[in-house]
Amino acid sequence: MYRIVKKRVLNPTVTLMEVEAPAVARKCEPGQFIILRVDENGERIPLTIAAYDREKGTVTIIFQLVGATTEKLNHKEEGEYLQDFVGPLGKATETEGLKRVAVIGGGVGTAIAYPVAKKLHDDGCHVDLIVGFRNKDLIILKEEFEAASTNLIIGTDDGSYGKKALVTDLTVVSMNPIMIDGTGMCGGCRLSVGGETKFACVDGPEFDGHLVDFDEAMARGAMYRDFEMHAREETCNLFKQEVK
Ligand SMILES: Cc1cc2nc3c(=O)[nH]c(=O)nc-3n(C[C@H](O)[C@H](O)[C@H](O)COP(=O)(O)OP(=O)(O)OC[C@H]3O[C@@H](n4cnc5c(N)ncnc54)[C@H](O)[C@@H]3O)c2cc1C
Ligand code: FES
Repeated sequence: MYRIVKKRVLNPTVTLMEVEAPAVARKCEPGQFIILRVDENGERIPLTIAAYDREKGTVTIIFQLVGATTEKLNHKEEGEYLQDFVGPLGKATETEGLKRVAVIGGGVGTAIAYPVAKKLHDDGCHVDLIVGFRNKDLIILKEEFEAASTNLIIGTDDGSYGKKALVTDLTVVSMNPIMIDGTGMCGGCRLSVGGETKFACVDGPEFDGHLVDFDEAMARGAMYRDFEMHAREETCNLFKQEVK
């Protein structure tokens, strides 16, 4: 069991949790992820390692409320426990020898950009950190971004803060396909990259964005949408009943 030592609501749909997981904290690197289960009947969901503290033995995750499991996770409070917290999984971001880098992320994807920017900045690299949000109210981690960059550019789609711009000029993308085992066995996270089949859990999750077949990735990502909507409605109803 893995204790939640800190919970911070970053905006109405995004929450940060710091979780006691010493074995993961000891070995993890930016770019990697964990797979957790909220309780013993829960499904396994992958979340990026947003930060880690090797001394405290904790790992931080930042998640967006999109469905049943993230909803259930968000109902957990400080001092409560998660059933499983497996990792680190995936490959670490290659940062060695880099001198000047632009790190780009949008919305909750900035949770993926943050640890990479921090590692590069800590290693003395010049980091231009470019983050985008739909509007001012959805901006998260502003202080953390400032500390992890040489030059921070914040954009919003509607211009309510910073530059009115989309963060579209990506070169490397971090892919979020459906994952099940996270070890290259089930094929759930299969992608076509430059005409080759890749597994995001072991070959990624980062790939050259110009080579990814996004039409296929989006079609595969939408396969379970009806089922997921149903599961979320059931979870919401369950919590409504508990509150009564
Ligand atoms: C390597 C990786 C890192 C990720 N990091 C983050 C992160 O740091 N923060 C964050 O908010 N989200 C992250 N995600 C996405 C996150 O896993 C999904 O939002 C989560 O699984 C949704 O579960 P749900 O039951 O709440 O929603 P559901 O209603 O079940 O699903 C909503 C959507 O989430 C995605 N999803 C559902 N199940 C899975 C699964 N088993 N594997 C992958 N995607 C799934 C699908 O796109 C689906 O349409 C990451 C995904 C991957 C693959
Ligand atoms: S999650 Fe099963 S092969 Fe990648």
